[in-house]
Amino acid sequence: MMKRTVIRGTGRYVPPRLVTNDDLSQWMDTSDEWIRQRTGIEQRYWVPEEGGVGSSDLGLEASKIALQRAGWAPEDLDLIIFATLSPDLFFPGCGCIMQHKLGLAATPALDIRQQCTGFLYGLTTADAYIRSGLANRILLVGAEVHSTGLDISTAGRDVAVIFGDGAGAVCLESLESNEPIGVLGSALHADGKFANSLMVEVGSSRLNPRISHELIDEGRHYPVMDGKAIFKLAVQKLPEVVIEVLKKAGLDLEAVDLLIPHQANLRINQFFAHSMKLPEEKVFNNIQRYGNTTAASIPIAFDEALEMNRIGDGSTVVFLGLGAGLTWGAVVARLGP
Ligand code: UT7
Repeated sequence: MMKRTVIRGTGRYVPPRLVTNDDLSQWMDTSDEWIRQRTGIEQRYWVPEEGGVGSSDLGLEASKIALQRAGWAPEDLDLIIFATLSPDLFFPGCGCIMQHKLGLAATPALDIRQQCTGFLYGLTTADAYIRSGLANRILLVGAEVHSTGLDISTAGRDVAVIFGDGAGAVCLESLESNEPIGVLGSALHADGKFANSLMVEVGSSRLNPRISHELIDEGRHYPVMDGKAIFKLAVQKLPEVVIEVLKKAGLDLEAVDLLIPHQANLRINQFFAHSMKLPEEKVFNNIQRYGNTTAASIPIAFDEALEMNRIGDGSTVVFLGLGAGLTWGAVVARLGP
């Protein structure tokens, strides 16, 4: 019998502050029309303006739902994996902070800094832990608070209109089975040559001091993105990596019930569907309502697709994404009873 990684429960959480495109156009020179046309985004949720809510807080809410659906107590966990690019603190990681909020005192917790592919790298890491017998029950969380780090003036509009806050979580369990169930394959990649194409530079260990009034005056603590370059890379690499992962798993594209891509831009996902000759309903999109929530976007979409009965027990799903790093990848899984 083989050890397999099966998905037991999912959850998602977004903060209650709804921010529409019209809201954004009061703070910067943008429009609902531009944002919808270029990105598909209609609204996003942001944490309260006064602060005090970090990624660990959003992750905690999503995790409570996932744990409850799995029928697990926090004490049942062998490991917590937390994917975020917007940690509560520079260090220690959000995994430790959320672990304490779950009432745990010794459960190991690690953070993954893989941005848009954080969930894919996290799922693959969890699968390796489970297959090797190092852990039986893992909580994987993707959570982001972007809104407190965005330049919401016109200078930052290309980035600020895209990002939303939120969290998604999944409970992963070891199952002994010879059936093809759970995680069936994974393909992960990175190319650090493109590190500067999407980054936040300050506070940075290569600057001394890491942060200063001058750096802040220059706005170097805000994310910068070469949107066109990332867009082109995404539409090239996403089809390639999906073909790669299906080959690894010995599956045809026809065997896949739903593809759940990272929600970076509706147009990227439409290009992807078109180049794979996939009907629109086979590619799940919810960026319209959440914006781009980076490490949270795939688990939020997965949870929503389950809730909408777009997938269920027996469905084969492919998770895929590309983002800062540059990192990209895909994971194929069969959902099981
Ligand atoms: O999840 C992380 C990975 N990130 C991505 O996958 C992002 C991929 N890239 C994108 O989604 C797109 O490149 C963007 C949505 C970021 C930008 O769309 P674009 O079609 O590439 O627009 P652009 O940057 O070429 O800008 C076109 C015009 C420019 O004006 P000019 O120079 O033509 O006069 C921009 O200044 O649109 C202007 N612009 C805006 N106008 C209104 C840029 N941002 C905005 C805005 N509102 N928010």
